[in-house]
Amino acid sequence: MAIKTVGVLGCGLMGSGIAQVSAAAGFKTIVLEVNQGVLDKGLGRVKKFLDDGVAKGKVVAEVRDTTLANLSGTTSYADLKDCDLVIEAIVENVEVKKAAYAQVEAVVGAHTIIASNTSSLCVTELAAATTRPDKVGGLHFFNPVPLMKLVEVIKALTTSQETYAALFEFAKAVGKEPITTPDRGGFIVNRLLIPYLLDAIRCLEEGLGTVEDIDKGMKLGCGHPMGPLTLVDFIGLDTTFSIANILFEEFREPRFAPPPLLKRMVLAGHFGKKSGKGFYDYAK
Ligand code: CAA
Ligand code: NAD
Repeated sequence: MAIKTVGVLGCGLMGSGIAQVSAAAGFKTIVLEVNQGVLDKGLGRVKKFLDDGVAKGKVVAEVRDTTLANLSGTTSYADLKDCDLVIEAIVENVEVKKAAYAQVEAVVGAHTIIASNTSSLCVTELAAATTRPDKVGGLHFFNPVPLMKLVEVIKALTTSQETYAALFEFAKAVGKEPITTPDRGGFIVNRLLIPYLLDAIRCLEEGLGTVEDIDKGMKLGCGHPMGPLTLVDFIGLDTTFSIANILFEEFREPRFAPPPLLKRMVLAGHFGKKSGKGFYDYAK
């Protein structure tokens, strides 16, 4: 099945990046948000990344222009009717995702594939909630999408080989390196990454070091591009908290349990870089 038109649900941190790489690869791409304000903010992020890329000499001006020409935004599901593939990148909440899939299925054709960018949810459960469980799989991109090369491609219990192959080819078509991962909470990368990030928060809670020293330790001691607390700010504390709860629910292992400090920061609205405050202050 040839994919020509791609829909993206959500134009937040991940949806905006996924829409960008899809449009840059030549797919007609339509990104959907809950309201015009959030949509404009997300599309503004794409334009800024491309403009900065041109200024840095990393993006050719023509590529920026064709990417923006291939990309449009909407707040209406009806505009997704011609999509061959819909990639969902909305909040990490199973019921919200299922409700969105029902709205997608009401407008798209029988051939349309639905892929979730979920970090940790059970893709088989998401697939089972649709009328096309053979045409649902996972496409897990990494943040920031335009710069990170990896995509985990997830085959749910019900995903057909044809759907899986189409998702794998799509990941390659948008310039990524796909790897095959099973439908197990966190797949490969988050199974390893999330306990490490949660441990960094536990270290902070225990007074093992300051925010800055914990980050400096892992950056300078282990050569990580970002310290763990900077990375949690970057992923989003709300998203990290949801992922931790989902993984804890799946495996019932203490290493996945969200530390009390993370819960309290989320309750206080300290979501990290996207809200202006997390372990660091981004107000400036
Ligand atoms: N357009 C084009 N290229 C750009 C660009 C732009 N607007 N902005 C930056 N770049 C390029 C730079 O030119 C540079 O390229 P070269 O290496 O060829 O010089 C490269 O991108 C890196 O950019 P910077 O030098 O500006 O930034 P940096 O070196 O500080 O790296 C980073 C930024 C890539 C984000 C790096 O800090 C990093 O890798 N951090 C870790 C990110 C990470 O771990 N992500 C995964 C999160 S977990 C997840 O996603 C899964 C989940 O489910 C939660
Ligand atoms: P985000 O908070 O930046 O964006 C989510 C967006 O979804 C918001 O803009 C919100 O308005 C929108 N939204 C909510 N409900 C919607 C609906 N019913 N229809 C359309 N849009 C809706 O979150 P994010 O970081 O982009 O995460 C999105 C998904 O990607 C989650 O499943 C998350 O686990 C996954 N993910 C996140 C990261 C990361 O580093 N943040 C990395 C990989 C995967």
